[in-house]
Amino acid sequence: MRDVAIIGVGMTKFGELWDQNIRDMFAEAALKAMEDAGVKKLDAMYVGAMSSGLYTFQEHIASVMADYIGQVGIPSTRVESACASGGLAVKSAIIEVASGMSDIVLAGGVEKMWDADDGSMILATAADQEYEGFHGVTFPGLYAMMANAYMDRYGLTREELAQVPIKNHKHAINNPNAQYPFPLNLDGVLKSSMVADPLRLMDCSPITDGAAAVIVCPLDRAKEFTNKPIKVKGIGAATGPIALHDHKDLTRLDAVRLAGERAYKMAGVTKDDIDFVEVHDCFSIAEIIVAEELGFFGYGEAGKAIANGQGTYGGRIVINPSGGLKAKGHPVGATGTAQILEAVTQLRGDAGKRQVKDAKIGMTQNMGGSGGSSVVHILEAV
Ligand code: COA
Repeated sequence: MRDVAIIGVGMTKFGELWDQNIRDMFAEAALKAMEDAGVKKLDAMYVGAMSSGLYTFQEHIASVMADYIGQVGIPSTRVESACASGGLAVKSAIIEVASGMSDIVLAGGVEKMWDADDGSMILATAADQEYEGFHGVTFPGLYAMMANAYMDRYGLTREELAQVPIKNHKHAINNPNAQYPFPLNLDGVLKSSMVADPLRLMDCSPITDGAAAVIVCPLDRAKEFTNKPIKVKGIGAATGPIALHDHKDLTRLDAVRLAGERAYKMAGVTKDDIDFVEVHDCFSIAEIIVAEELGFFGYGEAGKAIANGQGTYGGRIVINPSGGLKAKGHPVGATGTAQILEAVTQLRGDAGKRQVKDAKIGMTQNMGGSGGSSVVHILEAV
């Protein structure tokens, strides 16, 4: 297998993009990534999208996008794994280059969520339809059950849980592409509308339109395109139970732990080598459990640690410097690629006011549903 580098990144702003259709959004991100890498011709591409058909009525999306960005003729493949679609599209592109099959490969992700009236129901198609969807359960309800179990077992208070979105909004203020770059305080969380007890509006990632893309090539060719190549050091992916009732423990996400272990092993590093991490904080409780499954804190400790400043600049590890899903936004199919873009931006030293000092090794963790899938990447500045 060849070593692989990321040589270009691009994204749209995240938010309510009423003036762009799904192909415009993808093309904007993809063409920015190609311009960033200085490439005009791709060998292949992968498109992460959770539900373009239900959101926009456009299927066959890999071919649509290849055509629309002027690359018709190349192989183009759609990757779907609910909210982990973008991260797994990046993994697929890396493997295609690592195998020697192609040299210049684009991985993009896209979702146009605001066009649909029944967005929550579309998201819920990624839950178990027989046991969860049929009974009307949606993701805020599933993560609320996890939050209740965690708070009950570990004594995490409602006020402590609120510190996760407060931190992520603070980070997003310095991200020009974020959907909600506004400051948030304790009252703002505790007085926001109840969605699924104990989760309030400000504990939830939003509905978002957006796209992001990255370009990968063999590491030994990367210097032809950029003087700041970012090496792919490790990848790990895993599946977990689809239905929440099949989790052995409601306070654990096994797919995240397995994906993290595989990525650490491939990279030959430990949690202590990671300078920052972009995690899948689809709900405030998710960031806490994920941070524990990736080993940054012991079980039951991440909630209180983050509340005490250990998940931000000057703490144990900077979690979600981009603002995370909560404040940057969560266009489900694009989230994983946007996490990679943030990691590349940090490792290039180009993150401006949200720059993590001396960042050399970064991690991203993307997740589908209530832990039915997860993918972790470890990237290094070389
Ligand atoms: N954070 C901050 N502000 C938010 C927000 C969020 N997560 N969600 C909505 N808002 C704002 C809107 O901009 C709007 O502001 P305005 O009145 O100034 O225009 C207001 O709050 C109400 O927005 P609305 O779209 O009516 O909210 P909603 O009640 O329909 O939806 C949720 C809120 C939380 C139910 C919805 O965002 C949701 O389902 N989120 C979870 C998404 C999800 O499950 N993703 C997959 C994870 S696995």
